[in-house]
Amino acid sequence: MAIQWFPGHMNKARNEIKEIMPQMDVIIEVLDARIPYSSENPMVATLREGKPVIKILNKADLADPKMTQIWKDYFEQENGVKAIAFGNDKAAEVHRINELCKKLVPHKVGADKQIKAMIMGIPNVGKSTLINVLAGRIVAKTGNEPAVTKAQQRIKLEDGIMLYDTPGMLWPKVENENSGYRLGATGAIRDTAIEYEEVASYTAEYLLRAYPALLKARYKIDELPESDWEFVEMAGKKRGCIRGGNQIDTYKMSEILINELRDGIIGRITMETPAMREEEEIMVAGL
Ligand code: G4P
Repeated sequence: MAIQWFPGHMNKARNEIKEIMPQMDVIIEVLDARIPYSSENPMVATLREGKPVIKILNKADLADPKMTQIWKDYFEQENGVKAIAFGNDKAAEVHRINELCKKLVPHKVGADKQIKAMIMGIPNVGKSTLINVLAGRIVAKTGNEPAVTKAQQRIKLEDGIMLYDTPGMLWPKVENENSGYRLGATGAIRDTAIEYEEVASYTAEYLLRAYPALLKARYKIDELPESDWEFVEMAGKKRGCIRGGNQIDTYKMSEILINELRDGIIGRITMETPAMREEEEIMVAGL
């Protein structure tokens, strides 16, 4: 699936991050818990300079809790990486980020010291929402707004932590087509850039394999078909997605499937596993 990509924009973000990185003590990387691999930005790995990373598995309320734990354990195998899951009820839990920062950078804890933390994340993972909760006030704009480049922001948190926001970070050039579909399915890529029927067919194929029981329950289908497109047609018929000439309106059904997935109506779903990540990394490296 073709994804809009803005090389100028990405280079600007990369240069800004590169410049400021030497001063940073810790990186807070916000990911979408439903797609922890595709919502990563490879810039973090390449520009990290061995600094500790806190991976936030955000939107965990929409993700499969079993898979979130698997991802957390998987990420933490890497030296200097800690992972925490957050859902919609972040306010009560957000202090865990401050605690982890202090644990990861103990030599910067003290009355006259400051921990510098850089927060990074591709659009729509919930970075602004998290910043606002961390700050305890509205400092970042949330919602499905087009990415706007603003100047870098510094936000003073409690516990001697200074948070550096890096606005204007878009998703990287998506060489992996599967990642493109999953970014589209979860809503990380806005609708102008996605092709509903293609994304729905990819999604149906994955859900038929990984979450058949949820599909059966949501779309009231006792016997699931083998193929993704048969599923879209079957569900479309059940839902009354019919257009002129008694044709099944597969476009409408595709929209329903994607929107219900995004809203968590089908159930708590994770669209990637660590095994998929490793397999696809090898595939991308060979391109
Ligand atoms: P960004 O800065 O990374 O681009 O993301 P932002 O905080 O703007 O969040 C993107 C969308 O994700 C927002 O919804 C936000 O409410 C939602 N969101 C953030 N954190 C969570 C979470 O933990 N769980 C769930 N379910 N949603 C979360 P929106 O519909 O685009 O905007 P709005 O109508 O809420 O303003």
